Amino acid sequence: MSQYGKITCTGSYLPAKQVTNDELSKFMDTSDEWIRSRTGIQSRHVVTDENTSDLCTKAAQNILKKSGYTGDSLDFIIVATITPDYQMPSVACQVQAGIKADNAFAFDISAACSGFVYGLSLGEKMIRSGYKRGIVLGGETLSKVLDWKDRSSAVLFGDGAGGVLLEADESPHFLAEKLQSDGTRGGSLTSGFRENKSPFYDESTEETAWLKMNGRAIFDFTMSDVAKNIRQVLDENSVQADYFLLHQANVRIIDKLARKLKIPREKFLTNMDKYGNTSGASIPILLDEAVTNGTLKLDSTQNVVLTGFGGGLTWGTLLLTL
Ligand code: UT7
Repeated sequence: MSQYGKITCTGSYLPAKQVTNDELSKFMDTSDEWIRSRTGIQSRHVVTDENTSDLCTKAAQNILKKSGYTGDSLDFIIVATITPDYQMPSVACQVQAGIKADNAFAFDISAACSGFVYGLSLGEKMIRSGYKRGIVLGGETLSKVLDWKDRSSAVLFGDGAGGVLLEADESPHFLAEKLQSDGTRGGSLTSGFRENKSPFYDESTEETAWLKMNGRAIFDFTMSDVAKNIRQVLDENSVQADYFLLHQANVRIIDKLARKLKIPREKFLTNMDKYGNTSGASIPILLDEAVTNGTLKLDSTQNVVLTGFGGGLTWGTLLLTL
């Protein structure tokens, strides 16, 4: 008999320390007024002694606690992150150790702010192929890759983790998807460059490990490619979406996309005011918040659109029944 993936539980974890725009303006040439009016962000959470694996492990523990499962019942763990503790072991393997998921295989994926959407798509296909239960997480400590002297990027981002439990179900819940990438535009948003210090390596470089973004180019990309992507998924499926959960980069992007797509703004959930842009973690944190406050129910009655977009460039939309 065929089986399909269903989200049966959500969870998240935010580090305790919150930093307001006013606090940033104490050591950076910026202001609450500029950040709030250009982005909708009012504060963000940042780590003081934790790394991405800690945030993801705590989000996974939150999911297990709510769902009543133990780690050993999981078949797989997928973590979307661009800020892993190490290149190896993966954050997913660190989570596996942390929650004692002895029977799971675990790996990270790198798709920046689209990472959770890509990971969820992949996780659902794992379930279709026969696995029974897995966790898909998005987690980031962007504070460690920010150039805190660059006001144009440092004020935008935050740290956090969120995720979902995917389980086998007899009816399909993932109705449609369109995932896209364009590596030719990858230079608009970069971070984590690693200089080759080998005695055999002869090239010098201007590249840096800090996150660098051409904000205007990314903004324009959301209005063209991302808008088209969402429109295509909606037009190709006759399903009405109840809610839209987009990557939380900037409230102006959401406002403009809603207008462009001619979709009522109140269908778009937002929380970047509290968390800033948490890259791969933003959609699962928003999803968990909406499930926790009762806006979304995991009872197969609501259709939602999840859309990620960012570095790569990568972007993609999933249409699913929760
Ligand atoms: O997660 C990946 C996806 N990322 C995104 O989607 C980000 C997309 N881009 C954006 O959200 C916007 O482009 C930003 C919020 C990043 C920037 O907004 P903008 O309206 O495009 O501003 P701008 O970069 O054109 O800068 C306008 C002015 C500049 O000053 P001048 O040259 O006009 O004098 C900047 O130097 O604002 C200045 N500025 C700041 N001023 C105070 C830039 N950053 C700041 C700051 N505080 N933090």
